[in-house]
Amino acid sequence: SNSLLNILEITKESLTAVPECYVRNIEQVQLPSDRSDKPTAIPTIDMIKLLKGSEDTDSAQLETLHSTCKEWGVFQLMNHGVSPMLLEKLKYEIEEFFKLPLEEKMKYQIRPGDVEGYGSIVQNKEQKRDWGNRFYMIMNPIHRRKPYLFPELPSSLRNTLESYYLELKHLAMELLGLLGKAVKIDMKKIEELFEDGMQSVRITYYPPCPQPEHVIGLTPHSDASGITILHQLNGVDGLQIKKDGIWAPVNVLENAFVVNVGDIVEILSNGVYKSMEHRVMVNSEKERISIAIFFNPKFEAEIGPVISLITPENPPLFKWIGMEKYVQDFFTRRKLDGRSYLEQM
Ligand code: SIN
Ligand code: FE2
Repeated sequence: SNSLLNILEITKESLTAVPECYVRNIEQVQLPSDRSDKPTAIPTIDMIKLLKGSEDTDSAQLETLHSTCKEWGVFQLMNHGVSPMLLEKLKYEIEEFFKLPLEEKMKYQIRPGDVEGYGSIVQNKEQKRDWGNRFYMIMNPIHRRKPYLFPELPSSLRNTLESYYLELKHLAMELLGLLGKAVKIDMKKIEELFEDGMQSVRITYYPPCPQPEHVIGLTPHSDASGITILHQLNGVDGLQIKKDGIWAPVNVLENAFVVNVGDIVEILSNGVYKSMEHRVMVNSEKERISIAIFFNPKFEAEIGPVISLITPENPPLFKWIGMEKYVQDFFTRRKLDGRSYLEQM
């Protein structure tokens, strides 16, 4: 492969000026123009009400979930049930990890030809880098965990991350079931695809930047996942969603996760639910730390529009593809910009 590993870590020393390899064109970073039809705040979904409502005959909450996934493809999830103490511990452990000396973190460095580990990949010397240090790895199935990544993490981080991951796995299955119910995909189908599916995690540290108006923390993309659950660990804003052509900020809500519909749920729902383009911007004062967990079908699954949603009026919009090939194609193409994958189907 001709990709270069980004072994440069943004460090305190690079914080006085932005190196050329991070500087974007002005069109790429400029703030949304002050339009009068600016999108409103992204919708909030209450997990407790949603679970209750889905048992009742009154399905108002499910209706809200449905319209949110159709129009926004993203929502803030309140009352998710994950304990604040665990989240506090997770924040502490991840902060400690990023504070480790570079030599320590380099043990987890992305290896040639791989996509997992610490660092990031750029396709060529011209490609601009993101203003952030990332760690990406597969969590499930367990036998796909790289022996030199998760098992080699400091034990306190590893244990905390495992607890968090197990709680989110449960939450994700619940959410996927509710999404299925709302869009009318059978629970059996959801379980067949997602139970013990391919799951991965990415933690990111975005340092403050002396010239935030010139850089991007995370290049615009849509998630290739089924759904993504994002926790903005230290409560710092920066995430933006492209809605009706402009970048809408997702303000951090205390005690909420951000849940994203990914490309795979867009495909399964035959385009009814939207996998929205989003990006992360940074600021000059505060570091930002996040953890995203991606929930996908199992590697053996075939993904395509669910048969029961296909009618003469709603012909299939996407091709069928095996999950293993889907993941491979995604990582070899690795063109993070925009909604690259979906449009090619
Ligand atoms: C983040 O908010 O740091 C990550 C957002 C994403 O996963 O796209
Ligand atoms: Fe994303």
